[in-house]
Amino acid sequence: MPTSATTADAPPGLAIRYPTTLIDTRRLGGAQHLLLRPVLPQDESLMSAFLLAQSAGARRNRFHAAINPSPRLCRQLSQVDDRLQLALVVCTLDAGLEQLVAEARYCVVDEGRSGEFALMVDERWQGQGVGGWALRALQQAAARAGLAWLEGEVLADNRAMLSLAQRCGFACIPDPRDDGQVRVRRRLSAVDASTAGAGKARRSLGLWRRLGRALTARAHSLRCVPLTH
Ligand SMILES: CC(C)(COP(=O)(O)OP(=O)(O)OC[C@H]1O[C@@H](n2cnc3c(N)ncnc32)[C@H](O)[C@@H]1OP(=O)(O)O)[C@@H](O)C(=O)NCCC(=O)NCCS
Repeated sequence: MPTSATTADAPPGLAIRYPTTLIDTRRLGGAQHLLLRPVLPQDESLMSAFLLAQSAGARRNRFHAAINPSPRLCRQLSQVDDRLQLALVVCTLDAGLEQLVAEARYCVVDEGRSGEFALMVDERWQGQGVGGWALRALQQAAARAGLAWLEGEVLADNRAMLSLAQRCGFACIPDPRDDGQVRVRRRLSAVDASTAGAGKARRSLGLWRRLGRALTARAHSLRCVPLTH
């Protein structure tokens, strides 16, 4: 399987790589299929629907402010410069239509030594392991990309995220500059780079090839824009 999709004749300014090795699948409750994959620029409208469906409280926990999911924000979240950021989405099909159930990303900071992460799971899908899956996928991708740390800022009253971070091995340190915030930080290792891959290896190579081909076609018009976290 190729490590990335390439389009030799992509117009200037268009990103041409799609990291298909990051694609993963999972079943919830034995029936519901979920696909975890890198975000695509075409996900802008799915991103908008996803953010609009979340409560103001969930959006505050994710963005640390009462944000409005404007077209500009949704474009920023779905059109990423893969040199600066990794963005993943978890999708499902609802009545045959794709919808997002989670988004997770890290931005490269500290001169390439660390990734600053954030994630959000649709409130209807929380408490089923989706957040843990997405966070571990970020850990694995960051470790494979050679980052030494994954870290994030979590609101001090966000018990769900602090609990998840602890479960994933992050140290939680009160932010000395802001008592409403906790810094979560985890050192990455070679083990992080390899763990999630064990499950993938057992899965059908044919499935990955089909997914890779389908997403390569969708990725044809990838566009790079600088992105805020
Ligand atoms: C934090 C968040 C990503 C967790 O996603 P999730 O899919 O529910 O995560 P998982 O199902 O993998 O794990 C949830 C864990 O949190 C715990 N949890 C869930 N809700 C909780 C709550 N209200 N209080 C305390 N713990 C809670 C669960 O018990 C579980 O831990 P356990 O497996 O040890 O029991 C999700 O709640 C979310 O998107 N919140 C809004 C956005 C946000 O806070 N983003 C974080 C910004 S950095």
